[in-house]
Amino acid sequence: MSEKQQRRAAKVPLRELNTFRAVFAKDIDKSCRHEKQKDYMLIALHSKHDVKGYDIIEYDFSKKEPRDFRSAITKVLPTYNKFAFDQLGSIAIIEVDEEFRDKEELIAKTLLETNATVKTVLRKDSTHENEFRTQTYKFLQGVETKIATIKENNVTLSFDVEEVYFSVRLSSERKRVAQQVKENESVLVMFSGAGPYAMVIKKMHPSATVTAVEMNPEGHRWAVHNAKINKLDITCVNEDVGKLALGKTFDRIVMPAPKNAEDFLEKAKEHATQGTIIHLYCFGEENELAEKKKRIEHVFSKVTFLGDTVCGQQSPRIYRYCVDFRVD
Ligand SMILES: C[S@@+](CC[C@H](N)C(=O)[O-])C[C@H]1O[C@@H](n2cnc3c(N)ncnc32)[C@H](O)[C@@H]1O
Repeated sequence: MSEKQQRRAAKVPLRELNTFRAVFAKDIDKSCRHEKQKDYMLIALHSKHDVKGYDIIEYDFSKKEPRDFRSAITKVLPTYNKFAFDQLGSIAIIEVDEEFRDKEELIAKTLLETNATVKTVLRKDSTHENEFRTQTYKFLQGVETKIATIKENNVTLSFDVEEVYFSVRLSSERKRVAQQVKENESVLVMFSGAGPYAMVIKKMHPSATVTAVEMNPEGHRWAVHNAKINKLDITCVNEDVGKLALGKTFDRIVMPAPKNAEDFLEKAKEHATQGTIIHLYCFGEENELAEKKKRIEHVFSKVTFLGDTVCGQQSPRIYRYCVDFRVD
């Protein structure tokens, strides 16, 4: 039996429900389960709120069961405290500490039941980071798949979450970079993964010429697939950036590999000319940025720094930066 709570209730004719909800949204007590009577609905109100034009009675409403993951899981596992999860399309990815591993099915089931857009729950199964930055995941609940399909910045991106790195948290950063691209620009995206930067840039600027370079064969395969499903003409190259020799220069180079993109500045230089704009991603503390810029100046001799953007945090003081600069 669910708990009851007495509230003032407005008797709202069924045909007026939508209007009532729109006009009195702030007055409705959403913690109560509204009751359908013959041809009207009893809608619970916050204590003192007044809704003119409707009969008001006192009524014992059933309390709504919690619908959000945090409340629902706290009810069954009071000591559980990891409520955040990443969502890639319909796949939710959770981390479960050792002490809760025997309850991971319950945690996944609760997440599935409280989020209508989640159809699959996976758990991070390794912190092991290889050169492709991929991870393994254990399937827990829902539709058994590891292929995510997401929509961001007007493109559809599809990939197997175990086969290629992807961060859903960088979508606004991809937009920021794409918005800077000018008509007819030639853009080289190094370390391109399943192609998110390349796709977003090409979609936003059809006149741009975009080349995407990724060393992971599976990541490359997904980039080719994504270019196809988005009908975008992008040159996808399956190559180690360290061996890249495209024999041409670009107006813009994106280097989204914060762990080691700095080691490839010489390669960027080979593909740059005066005026080329470079977006270099790196991890570090704020006071390390000056050192990183010295390294850039050492490689390129003359550059103009255009701005540093914080676009993530790796640990308490270590941030993900994008350093934008122009080769002069
Ligand atoms: C942090 S991920 C970024 C992927 C993608 N740009 C994104 O934002 O989702 C870095 C990518 O660089 C690739 N990579 C690492 N070293 C590389 C190299 N030497 N040449 C080409 N790709 C490389 C990895 O396989 C991985 O897909």
